[in-house]
Amino acid sequence: LVAGVDTSTQSCKVVVRDAETGALRRFGSASHPDGTEVDPAAWWDALGAAVAAAGGLDDVAALAVGGQQHGMVALDADGDVVRPALLWNDTRSAQAARDLVRELGDGDEAVGAQAWADAIGSVPVASLTVTKLRWLRDAEPENAARVAAVALPHDWLTWRIAGYGPAGDPTAPLGPDLDALVTDASDASGTGYWDATRVASPDAAGSGREGYRLDLLELALGRTDVVLPRVVGPSSVAGVAHPGVAGADVEGGALLGPGAGDNAGAALGLGMTAGDVAVSIGTSGVVSAVVPERTADGSGLINGFSDATGRYLLLAVTLNASRVLDAARAVLGVDHAGLSRLALQAPPGADGLVLVPYLEGERMPNRPDATGTLHGVTLKTSTPAHLARAYVEGMLCGLADGLDALRALGVRVERVQLVGGGAQSEAVRQFAPQVLGLPVTVPEPGEYVADGAARQAAWVLAASRAGGEADPPGWGTASGTVSEADEVPAIRAQYAAVRDR
Ligand code: XUL
Repeated sequence: LVAGVDTSTQSCKVVVRDAETGALRRFGSASHPDGTEVDPAAWWDALGAAVAAAGGLDDVAALAVGGQQHGMVALDADGDVVRPALLWNDTRSAQAARDLVRELGDGDEAVGAQAWADAIGSVPVASLTVTKLRWLRDAEPENAARVAAVALPHDWLTWRIAGYGPAGDPTAPLGPDLDALVTDASDASGTGYWDATRVASPDAAGSGREGYRLDLLELALGRTDVVLPRVVGPSSVAGVAHPGVAGADVEGGALLGPGAGDNAGAALGLGMTAGDVAVSIGTSGVVSAVVPERTADGSGLINGFSDATGRYLLLAVTLNASRVLDAARAVLGVDHAGLSRLALQAPPGADGLVLVPYLEGERMPNRPDATGTLHGVTLKTSTPAHLARAYVEGMLCGLADGLDALRALGVRVERVQLVGGGAQSEAVRQFAPQVLGLPVTVPEPGEYVADGAARQAAWVLAASRAGGEADPPGWGTASGTVSEADEVPAIRAQYAAVRDR
């Protein structure tokens, strides 16, 4: 058996699968506080609760963790966090991002943006770890001075699972060995200080830290004497789980995979290959494509990250996805099904009622201080149905912008897979092909991030048993399809007008 963990913005999920066939054996989940600033101890507690809900992991031979990207887990020399982690959706470092872009361009923003894209594959926005380090240096210099290591949510949790942690913590018997931190290319590529040309961590023979751009770390933090997690290849053994967490009944213990950022984990779990495009409507809205070549989008709309298999993963990420639907539900006092029913009662385009959906600022385009705007309020459009439809359509328009940004980089988009909690809404499923202008397939709902981590664990196990290399598990794509819908050109044309407005 192998296990995959998804440590997300809101909860922890654990899947246990058969290493050979991929058959699902057990599942457990537990929620934890969300928000934009969280004490990582909450993730560790939620992992314990999710593992218990999954019936324990004593019989698991390998395990890997996928997790929310970019969160700054700054550790001091004793392995304690210097402050609560600042997460991907925290926009307080927006000015720091602007400063970093300008500084790399010697005062010229456009030059700086392209220089960052060339160096790391992305233009820094407030989500990226590098901007959070600059914010820490500017706003909390005492905390910045205490930083001895910088980890991300998934690699910090992997470190804790291996038995490391704060000095004196009884759940961390191996103590605060910062050099034991390990990560993978997909999450390293979201830090903002990792060389975008290092796809599959060709550093395996070296320290595993050669790919870090210490010059960029220095630009942000003002120094480079901090430990950064060792980056290992996608099927490499990253350590062994502490038997208190997993593998107690397995000889040699449970092998740990390097893990992955959640979007790369989901791509692996969905079985995405080059050319596939997915749209995920979760706390973040993500348009993703797996591609063989690196990109350097100086416009900042597309992040050129690494995937979890040695290729590249292009992401267009919006801060305004399922929470836009949640906001509509709150205003209208309905549940998910009720919102969907209402939205379906109004006509396409909601008679001109249009929501600009930047309710939490925005990252694509980079408008951290933006707010939402409702256009076209008339007596006719002042109905719950029009409001419901405008919120769903506005949210989808944000994702359509992401698809356009992918196309602008030359990615051919012919069909999308629609996943995430938002894809469970009938209204979303019906409107998506029209707003996106593409055929849309909705696979069975699944834990794609945790599944991707489980796949990685099976891959690591196979490679280890083969004494080096192995192919990724041939589990096939786990899911069937729950709906497929094509665009209707006449309706699509109406949405072009909505998007223009
Ligand atoms: C990706 C991003 C989000 C988080 C969500 O760049 O910021 O998708 O990974 O967990």
